[in-house]
Amino acid sequence: MGEFVSVQTDDGVATIRIDRAPVNALNVQMWGECADAARQVATDDDVRAVVLWGGPKVFAAGADIKAMREMSFTDAFAHAGELQEAFRTLAEVPKVVIAAVNGYALGGGCELALTADFRYAADNAKFGQPEIKLGLIPGAGGTQRLARLIGTQAAKEWVYGGEMYDAETCRQLGLVDRIYPADEVYDRAVESARAYAAGPYALRMAKKAIDEGMGLDLASALKLETELFAATFATRDREIGMDAFLAKDRAEFTQR
Ligand code: CAA
Repeated sequence: MGEFVSVQTDDGVATIRIDRAPVNALNVQMWGECADAARQVATDDDVRAVVLWGGPKVFAAGADIKAMREMSFTDAFAHAGELQEAFRTLAEVPKVVIAAVNGYALGGGCELALTADFRYAADNAKFGQPEIKLGLIPGAGGTQRLARLIGTQAAKEWVYGGEMYDAETCRQLGLVDRIYPADEVYDRAVESARAYAAGPYALRMAKKAIDEGMGLDLASALKLETELFAATFATRDREIGMDAFLAKDRAEFTQR
């Protein structure tokens, strides 16, 4: 349990909660705590799905500008590497992760949301990469994960312009998956996470195949898919799933 990032698990679903008033500005300590939380949910067998949440008011307004103001080039180079590593650890959590976004998800906050498999946004949510207005560029995936998700042209508009976009615009771009009233978004994310938590071990293979495959050429990615498809045959849940189908029964998966 970190000072600003905590993990709470209930019935198979872990909530990674970011909590640093007033706007969850991400300082270096929090980057480390995010990585610790990611490792915890990745390795804890009681965790079967994850919700990433910044609380009811704001998801995260980005890296802490007050702290960054005093950084030198070498500080920034070292810390950006740590931040990338923390977000990579989050993105590679081998379980389904849903970001529940209330309010602002800006800069590093938007990049944090991009580490999740899905983004459920409150109808008041605002996303953006405003770094250019500070004389910076995004440093935690905003030129890469964002471009891979919404396309290079839209990402250029976001990163060059530094504007904010509402939830509906983000949904049309594929960045937001679902929109809910602000007081419902977290509960809906937990509800979906609970359904994934009841799913088979193969969900991990599916995540790996899609996420790792997107970084490969098509032939290599299809080979990876073949290997992971075959690997599902080593799981108990593959037997449970097929037996349940043949018995016209409901599968009770074990995530084994
Ligand atoms: N870092 C540090 N402090 C921040 C912050 C940030 N990213 N964002 C907001 N704050 C602080 C403000 O300075 C203010 O503090 P004081 O009360 O001490 O003055 C407090 O939070 C509330 O902010 P506002 O008064 O501005 O509140 P608002 O409701 O008018 O606006 C906001 C909210 C739209 C989030 C606005 O504060 C804002 O635009 N913040 C900056 C967003 C930004 O540029 N993020 C990118 C950071 S760089 C980055 O993330 C690099 C990377 O890729 C890793």
